[in-house]
Amino acid sequence: MPAVNVAIAPAPHRSAPDMPASGPIADRFGRVHRDMRISLTDRCSLRCTYCMPEQGSEWLARQSILTTDEIERIARIAATHGITTFRLTGGEPLLRRDLEDVVARLARIPGAEIAMTTNAIGLDRRLPALVDAGLGRLNISIDTLDRDRFRELTRRDRLDDVLRGIRAASEAGIGPLKLNAVAMRGVNDTEIADLVQFAIDHGAQMRFIEQMPLDAGHTWSRSEMVTREEILGRLRERWAIEPVPGRGGAPAESWRLDGSERTVGVIASVTAPFCGACDRMRLTADGQIRNCLFSNSEFDLVPLLRGGSDDAAIEGMLRRAIWGKLPGHAVGDESFLQPARGMNAIGG
Ligand code: GTP
Ligand code: 5AD
Ligand code: SF4
Repeated sequence: MPAVNVAIAPAPHRSAPDMPASGPIADRFGRVHRDMRISLTDRCSLRCTYCMPEQGSEWLARQSILTTDEIERIARIAATHGITTFRLTGGEPLLRRDLEDVVARLARIPGAEIAMTTNAIGLDRRLPALVDAGLGRLNISIDTLDRDRFRELTRRDRLDDVLRGIRAASEAGIGPLKLNAVAMRGVNDTEIADLVQFAIDHGAQMRFIEQMPLDAGHTWSRSEMVTREEILGRLRERWAIEPVPGRGGAPAESWRLDGSERTVGVIASVTAPFCGACDRMRLTADGQIRNCLFSNSEFDLVPLLRGGSDDAAIEGMLRRAIWGKLPGHAVGDESFLQPARGMNAIGG
């Protein structure tokens, strides 16, 4: 099988046009934004080494966390201007007590699709209410099926809880169900085929993610990272794989297994960036708009929300935030600066 370069180049430079005051929310490179990732909390029930420190996290102050009314208001304004998908993230979104209410309120926005990325701890108990509330899609993180490795990686002995959550999601028929694993050398790189089989057994798509330099410990190194090529090599040991066309703005490229309907996803943020097709913005739990996972600046909605500003002012800030988006990230460049926020406070 020839190597297929599915990298989407960074958005091309164009002469600086003026920011339009109406129409869909877009950046100066023509990327229309359709997807908002909403972080509901920076807290998490796990402490994955590639994300959080073991101890000493500085949590967001309780009063700085957006209320459900505030989240709903931002989402309604965003939806009026072309955002169609709202993905709830964390930290761990299941730690938000009123999650069902958040889902229900967002699901009532005309045309909105509600998705969530979760570690699935406690999901089995809450899934029926979440589905009733209008949750449409679920992505669940599961990096290893080995209990000891799971405990070392997440610093918590909770594999059984995660497996219960995945089983519940699989039985609920909520779909498409996706399982995420960050590929890590010496941790789960030998488990790639087993994870794929596990996902198949649960009616889910397995996706492998190149680790990004967003860990609290700043230990990431490009040479240690398990690359897309390496992941594909592991898959080829067990299956004949071919790329599935039609990726759109999705971070994952899908690969078909043995000509069947079954596919595996690879998210190669580092070696094959997909910034040229990026259609996402992020809202942090404390009300900051980030135009990129890696951005070093934020747009603070809180003074507008709590200072009596009208919807047009909030819309204006969403537009300005996206208008200032860079064409792509600079992971791997010497100039790359890891964001001050940890991944748990960005929202993944
Ligand atoms: P889908 O809508 O199902 O495609 O969700 P998703 O893959 O965008 O979301 P998920 O929360 O499951 O994220 C999977 C991985 O993709 C995580 O490692 C995210 O950090 C990463 N990811 C999501 N969006 C972006 C993005 O815009 N840029 C980069 N570089 N990585 C992203
Ligand atoms: N690199 C890549 N993916 C990461 N995630 C968390 N931290 C990183 C990182 N440093 C993933 C989680 C989850 C999703 C929200 O982001 O595993 O699946
Ligand atoms: Fe979009 Fe930034 Fe992710 Fe690139 S790194 S795809 S620009 S969020």
